[in-house]
Amino acid sequence: MNQPEHLVESSAQVRNRFEAAGQQHVFRFWNELDEMARASLLDQLRSIDLDLIAKLSTTPEAPADDQDGELEPAAVLHIGEDHCHATRRRATKRGRDLIRQGKVGAFLVAGGQGSRLGFDGPKGCLPFGLHSGRTLFELHAQKIRALRDRLCSTVPWYIMTSAANHDDTCRFFEENDFFGLSREDVLLLEQTMLPSLDGDGKLVLADKGRLFLSPNGHGGAYSTFAERGGLEDARRRGIEHLFYFQVDNALIRIADPTFLGLHDLTGAEMSLAVLEKTGPDEKIGVVATREDLAEVIEYSDLPEKLANRRDENGRLAFGAGSIAVHAFRLDFFERVATGDIALPYHVAQKRISTVDENGNPLEIDGTKFETFVFDALPSARRYLNVEVVREHEFAPVKNAAGVDSLESARLLVRNEHHRWLQAANIKLTGQVEISPLVALGPEDCLTSLLPWRGKTLKGDVRIERDADGEVTVQNLD
Ligand code: UD1
Repeated sequence: MNQPEHLVESSAQVRNRFEAAGQQHVFRFWNELDEMARASLLDQLRSIDLDLIAKLSTTPEAPADDQDGELEPAAVLHIGEDHCHATRRRATKRGRDLIRQGKVGAFLVAGGQGSRLGFDGPKGCLPFGLHSGRTLFELHAQKIRALRDRLCSTVPWYIMTSAANHDDTCRFFEENDFFGLSREDVLLLEQTMLPSLDGDGKLVLADKGRLFLSPNGHGGAYSTFAERGGLEDARRRGIEHLFYFQVDNALIRIADPTFLGLHDLTGAEMSLAVLEKTGPDEKIGVVATREDLAEVIEYSDLPEKLANRRDENGRLAFGAGSIAVHAFRLDFFERVATGDIALPYHVAQKRISTVDENGNPLEIDGTKFETFVFDALPSARRYLNVEVVREHEFAPVKNAAGVDSLESARLLVRNEHHRWLQAANIKLTGQVEISPLVALGPEDCLTSLLPWRGKTLKGDVRIERDADGEVTVQNLD
C-alpha cells in the first residue's frame, strides 16, 4: 500500500538513520547511481528495521547444548490405525465437521530455495507424479480439491513464497488455472526478507545499489500471514484452525481430519505430527521438553549423546521426529503474527556475494538470520504430539539423489498406492499412480474402485477421475 507522501521517510531522514546506526556505508556508491537506482535503494532502506539489525548483530550462534534445563523426551499420543478405535472415530468426525463448516485453512510454506535439490525453479513446480509427471503443487491442489468436493466446503490455501520464487510461483498457478481451485481461495503471500551482516556487524550490499537480503526462515510464516492479508482473509472466512505443511512432502495428508479433530478436541493451540526416527542420524527435528515446555530441537542442534540415547526398550529416547506438519489454532497463530509471542533468531554462517570498495564482485563469509515456525511451540498453552505412520505420511523430496530424493519419494508414494489397491483386493502386475481426486487414502479405493475389486490391473496404470467425475483406469503399456 502506498503511504501518504508526508509519512514517507525523506532521503535525508533515511541517511541520518543509517548514519546514527553506523551503517552509512550502504550509501558508498550513491554518486554513481542514476535516479531510478537511488529511488530503489531508498525504498529498500526504508523497510529496514535498524533496531532489529543492532539486536541481530549481537545474536550469538547458539552452541547445541548451551541452554538451561535438562531435555526430556516429549509425550506422544499413539492412536494406532484401527478405524474402529473410539477416539479415532470421534476425532475424524470432529475434523470432518470442522472442514465442512469452513473452519480450516491450509498453510503451505514454499519460500525456500531448494538448493540441495538442484532444481531450477520453485520446488513445487518439480514434476513428481510417477506416470502423470504432475508437479508437487498440482498434487497438493488436487488433495485440497478432493476435500472440497467430498465435504462440500472450501479450504482456503495460503502459500508462502519468497522473493526468489514468488513471480514464478504466481505465473505457474495462473498458467495452470489454479489447478481447478477457485483463484480467490488460493492466496500467494510473499515472505519478508532480512539483510545479512558481515563479520563486523555491517549490512552487506549485493551490488552498488542494493542490500543483500534473504528469506527470514519459515518462522516468517506468522508475520507474512498478518502483513500480506492472510490473517484478515482467514478471519473474514471464520477460519479457526490452520493446517501447516511443507512443499516437499509428497505423501502429505493435507488437512487430515483425524489429526485436526484430535488437535481441536484436546484444545491444543499447536499440534505436531511425529514419527519414530529411523536412527540417530536421520535429518529431522525432534520434539522434546525442557522444564515442562515443549520444543522442537533441530537435528543439527541435538547433542550427539542425546541423539544416541536409548530407553529401556532399546528405542531412541529422543526419537519423536517432527515431519513439519502442524495444526494451529488461529488465535495462537495471530499472537505470534502480531509479535505478542516473539521467536528467537537462528544464525547461519554462509558465503555471500557482495561488492568490494570499488564495486567489484567479491565473496565473503557473512551471517544470515532466520526464524523457525516451530519455535512458537514453548509458548503454546496446550500442545499435542500425534504419532503418524511413516509409510502413509512422509515422503520428503530434499536431495538430488539418494536419501530423501525425488527417486526415493516416488518409490514411497508408489508403494503407498500399491497398499491401497491391495486393501481393496485389486491385484497389479505393474506400477500404479492414483490421482488424489480418486483417493486420498485406502478407504476411498474401496468405494471409488468398486468395479475393479477382485480383478487384476495389467501393466503400468494411471487411475484418474475425468471431467465428468468418472474414474478411469488407463493402461500405459
Ligand atoms: C525441515 C525441518 C525439520 C523437519 C523436516 C521435515 C527446519 C529448520 N527443519 O528440515 O525439523 O524434520 O523439515 O521434512 O525447518 N521455507 C520457507 N521460507 C524460508 C525457509 C524455508 O518457506 O525462509 C520452507 C521451504 O520451502 C520448505 C520448508 O520451509 O518447504 C522447510 O525448509 P528446509 O530448509 O528445507 O528445512 P529442512 O532442512 O528440510
